[in-house]
Amino acid sequence: MKLQNRLAIVILVIFFGGWLIAGASAFILEKQDARANVANTARILLSTAISARNYTTERIEPLSINDDGFVRETVPSFAAQELFDRLNEDYPGYSYSERALNPTNPKDLAEAWQVELIQYFIQNPDANEVVDERVNRGGQSTLFVAEPIRVNSTSCLECHSTPDVAPPGLIKTYGRSNGFGWELNETIGTRIISVPTEIQDQQAISSVFSYLVLIAGVFLLAYAALSIIVRKWLTIPLGKITQLVEEISLRETEIESQLPEDRTDAIGRLNRSINRLITTLNKALLNKEENIR
Ligand code: HEC
Repeated sequence: MKLQNRLAIVILVIFFGGWLIAGASAFILEKQDARANVANTARILLSTAISARNYTTERIEPLSINDDGFVRETVPSFAAQELFDRLNEDYPGYSYSERALNPTNPKDLAEAWQVELIQYFIQNPDANEVVDERVNRGGQSTLFVAEPIRVNSTSCLECHSTPDVAPPGLIKTYGRSNGFGWELNETIGTRIISVPTEIQDQQAISSVFSYLVLIAGVFLLAYAALSIIVRKWLTIPLGKITQLVEEISLRETEIESQLPEDRTDAIGRLNRSINRLITTLNKALLNKEENIR
């Protein structure tokens, strides 16, 4: 096999192995990065929802406290969920929900996977967050951040302790049977923010792809340069030497072809040595011919 081909195979194998390893590690890193970004976005959104809730508790609720009637918009949970329903219209896949084991509004009843989360938070009072991934109803992959909802203020008890102390308007709208009996500091539900991961995953894949194309480009350039150098400085000069030595050994030509001596590297030295060898050989042959005569 030609030296150049052998070199090509070795370089290709090394490159391809390195290329795969670089691609795989870049993908893992990018994916981790994408997850961290999504989780951060989710946390910011969750804080936004909590802010909407607190705003309602602190600013809106007091305005209606003396009203006989009941205004749904004054309910913290309602305000936060409504806000995010609007976000969901512009950003499908982004969703915020508050779910309870015994909710005031039946639409807020926890599903099986949410019940599990709530039970986890009940059993682990120190746990403040669960981050995980799941495919939502629309088939989208999402990352969610869940936090426990604890009855952290006596103000909650106005509407969630017993039907007797709740505003009459609330009873009228929601009835007397749901969302009561909550106690101070009890974990009664979870708030969950979901953020789609597809966009970030696609970004991760496309940035790994461009990274791999870039590496391949650099490699091809380096490889092209290397083959030109090997050809010009090694294969061609070695070919000349081989041809000359073959001609000498077969005595096909007069031994006078001189190899170029302008190079300072190993090939240059080899050329000079062969040239000297030929001169010596010529002298020896000349002597021999004279002796014969
Ligand atoms: C003014 C009465 C009122 C107050 C005060 C109030 N809530 Fe509610 N809460 C409601 C009503 C009404 C709903 C149902 C809203 C809806 O229709 O989505 C609700 C819903 C919720 C939900 C969603 C699950 C469900 O029951 O439907 C949670 C969780 C919740 N409240 C927690 C709290 C916490 C914690 C506090 C105290 C910080 C609090 N609430 C204070 C009336 C109140």
